[in-house]
Amino acid sequence: MSGNPSLVIAIDGPAASGKSTVAKRLASELGIVFVSSGGMYRAFTWWVLENGVDPARTGDVEALLEKTEFQCGEQDNIGTIAVNGQLLSREQLANEAVNGGVSLVAAIPSVRSRLVDEQRAYAKERGVVMEGRDIGSVVFPDTSNKFYIDASPEVREQRRRAEGIDDSIAARDKMDSNRKASPLVIPEDATVVDSSDLSIEEVVEKVKKSLVS
Ligand code: DC
Repeated sequence: MSGNPSLVIAIDGPAASGKSTVAKRLASELGIVFVSSGGMYRAFTWWVLENGVDPARTGDVEALLEKTEFQCGEQDNIGTIAVNGQLLSREQLANEAVNGGVSLVAAIPSVRSRLVDEQRAYAKERGVVMEGRDIGSVVFPDTSNKFYIDASPEVREQRRRAEGIDDSIAARDKMDSNRKASPLVIPEDATVVDSSDLSIEEVVEKVKKSLVS
């Protein structure tokens, strides 16, 4: 067990808002686990594509889900997910095909329900900083530590280009915000931080100042 098990920090926001870097930095400073829930949706999307299943064919994705086991754990305070025993690299999780399919896969309620169970399990025995789209609204609605990290669309596109990643952010934002199942929303009780003109350190400081233990 690591860190304060009751400390659950939910960080939501759109793609390339900086939430992942902020969440990782914060978890490391606090000595608790960092979990990218997007990484979990990406891992299953990779598996969908690996099996030749079209992410747009919900029934086929659901049939594959039933035959899939996830193994969630942590390594050096970073959450890991293996799909049927296979751990995936960063490159596999962020490739162009996964970027293109992940919003479709993540919109399927049965997929969300399986992965939300895995996400909640992280907080049973340890403190956690988890980032995603619905962490404050659905996964941990009772936590007092909810943050929504935003940035302008221009800044977010620029950040992805600088990382050399081909990612249709605008299309993904639209799908993630307009889907029926757990869309990206700003939780009512979240602290909103606009990171457009702030450094990572400045965002981390702002979050730390608002934390309640
Ligand atoms: O944070 P990310 O870009 O790695 O997330 C990839 C996709 O996963 C994102 O487009 C929507 C989905 N996602 C989600 O639906 N719910 C979450 N909690 C996290 C990610």
